[in-house]
Amino acid sequence: MSLPKPTSSTAALVTGASAGIGSEIARLLAQRGHTLVLVARRKDRLTALADELSEEYGVRVETIAADLGKPTPRGKIPGRIEELGLQIEILINNAGFATGGEPFHEAEPDRELEQVRVDVEAVVALTSAFLPGMVKRGRGAILNVASTAGMQPIPYSAGYAAAKAYVLSFSEAIHQEVRGHGVTVTALAPGPVETDFWQIAGWETSSGKSFERAVPGTLISPAQAASAAVEGLDRGERVVVPGLPIRAAMLASRYIPHMLKLPALERFMRPGGNPENLD
Ligand SMILES: NC(=O)c1ccc[n+]([C@@H]2O[C@H](COP(=O)([O-])OP(=O)(O)OC[C@H]3O[C@@H](n4cnc5c(N)ncnc54)[C@H](OP(=O)(O)O)[C@@H]3O)[C@@H](O)[C@H]2O)c1
Repeated sequence: MSLPKPTSSTAALVTGASAGIGSEIARLLAQRGHTLVLVARRKDRLTALADELSEEYGVRVETIAADLGKPTPRGKIPGRIEELGLQIEILINNAGFATGGEPFHEAEPDRELEQVRVDVEAVVALTSAFLPGMVKRGRGAILNVASTAGMQPIPYSAGYAAAKAYVLSFSEAIHQEVRGHGVTVTALAPGPVETDFWQIAGWETSSGKSFERAVPGTLISPAQAASAAVEGLDRGERVVVPGLPIRAAMLASRYIPHMLKLPALERFMRPGGNPENLD
C-alpha cells in the first residue's frame, strides 16, 4: 500500500513542523505535492517554512500555532481544519521533547506531566480525531514518532522512555487493527538524530558526553530520519528504525534480559559520573 495521492481537498497534518525531523518530513511531503497543515507553538518558524515550501513546490501550506500539551488549543485543531475545507489523509504525530538527565525523584513534576501531555496525550487525541474518518473513507496514513528510547526502560530518562514505549505499542496495535481498511499506521523509532532535541533534553552520560555523542556511529541527520519515515509510510510499514547501526544494536539488545541491561544502562546514563568511579 502506498501513501494516499494528493488532491486539492486533502492534506497532511505535521505536528512539530517548526524544527528538526518534522520540518524535513513536511518538506518531503510538499515535494510529493501534498497540501500541508503545519502545527507547533512557534508561529514565525511555521510561517517561514510555509512560505518556503509553497514557493518551492507550488503546494498549499496552512499553519496552526498551538501548544499540543494544552487540551483547549489542541482541541480546536479539527474544527480549524474543517474551516479550511480540508480532510486529513496523512497525520504525522511528530511533536515531542524529552526530560531526563537526572533521577526521577529530582525531576520537575510539571515538566514530567507536560511530557506525557505532548508526547502521549496529543498523539492519542489527534489519532482519535482523524483515524475514524480515514477508516470510513478507506484511505489514510498515520506516522507516530516514537524512539528507540521506547524499546527498553532508561534510567535517568524514565518518563521519556515510558512515553515513547506507549507510542510504539499504541501504534503497532492500531497498525494491526486497521489492516484491510485502507489505512496504515507506522511508528518511526529513530536512535539519535542531530536536532535541537538534545539541547532541550540535556542528557549528559557518565562519560561526560551528551547522549547523542556518546554512542558512536549512530547519529543521523533529520533529513535521513525524515526520508526513512516517508519511505516507511509509503510501504505501510509497522515500525521504521532508520540507520543500520542502531537497527542492529536494537535487534541485539532484545536478547539481553533486563536484569543485565538495566544496571548497564544505569551506569552508562548516570549524569556527570566519572566512569573510573562507577560500581
Ligand atoms: N532527535 C532525536 O535524537 C530523536 C530520537 C528519537 C525520537 N525523536 C522524536 O522525534 C520527534 C521530533 O523531535 P526532533 O528531534 O525533531 O526535535 P526538535 O528539533 O526539538 O523538534 C521538536 C518539535 O516539536 C515541537 N513541540 C515541542 N513541544 C510542543 C508543544 N508543546 N506543542 C506543539 N509542538 C511542540 C517543537 O515546536 P515548537 O517548539 O515550535 O512548539 C518542534 O517543532 C520528537 O517526538 C522526539 O521525541 C527524536
